[in-house]
Amino acid sequence: MIDYKNHWDSVYSKNDLNKLGWYEETPKPSLDLIESCNLDKNSTILDVGSGASSLIKHLIRKSYSDIIASDISRVALDRAKGLLESKEAEKVRWIVDDITNPKNLTKLNSIDLWHDRTVLHFLLTEEQQKGYLAALKKLVRKNGFVLIAVFSLEGAKKCSGLDVKNYDDKMIDRFLGEDFKLLNSFSYMYQMPKGDLRPYVYTLFQRIIIS
Ligand SMILES: C[S@@+](CC[C@H](N)C(=O)[O-])C[C@H]1O[C@@H](n2cnc3c(N)ncnc32)[C@H](O)[C@@H]1O
Repeated sequence: MIDYKNHWDSVYSKNDLNKLGWYEETPKPSLDLIESCNLDKNSTILDVGSGASSLIKHLIRKSYSDIIASDISRVALDRAKGLLESKEAEKVRWIVDDITNPKNLTKLNSIDLWHDRTVLHFLLTEEQQKGYLAALKKLVRKNGFVLIAVFSLEGAKKCSGLDVKNYDDKMIDRFLGEDFKLLNSFSYMYQMPKGDLRPYVYTLFQRIIIS
């Protein structure tokens, strides 16, 4: 069985951040979708599997004031802090946790926006997917937003040496279930630092709660 924590700690220990196969200088598709939600600047934004993403820096500089960066890898979050000025890093809540079986995240209050760029697709077993969905449903408030971006059906079958599950927007819609309404989705061609192209699908949902 794969030790995911060790895997990701090792990835973030050994590599330059700007050479990682998911590195973005500016996470434009995520930022555009987040801006489309018209959130108050003090809304709670949770980035799951945040890694050392530049998203946190961009959100701070757009004046969002309640940001939580969470990842299974402590090394990743430590490196992410290093991308920020110390005053900026202090404003963020950094939470090491496994999103498939969270211990610390479940203590949070309700989340206005859940952001996941390329984490869900690593969850291959039903148990992992159920754990992720249970955490999402526990945390995202009514009318809150869920942004999920993963490798599309045409996309790569592996990332960072791990198998992935490919999705389209309908599959993510079915996965989240009837309490979530699909607001927007689009295909996006991500270019890796090496130049290779990776097709992604971006989706934005709102929690409506039918039952
Ligand atoms: C491909 S990277 C993407 C990182 C970041 N979202 C970005 O866009 O740059 C996947 C991230 O998911 C994290 N991850 C993988 N499995 C996880 C899990 N079960 N719980 C929390 N984080 C996880 C990894 O440590 C890694 O940082």
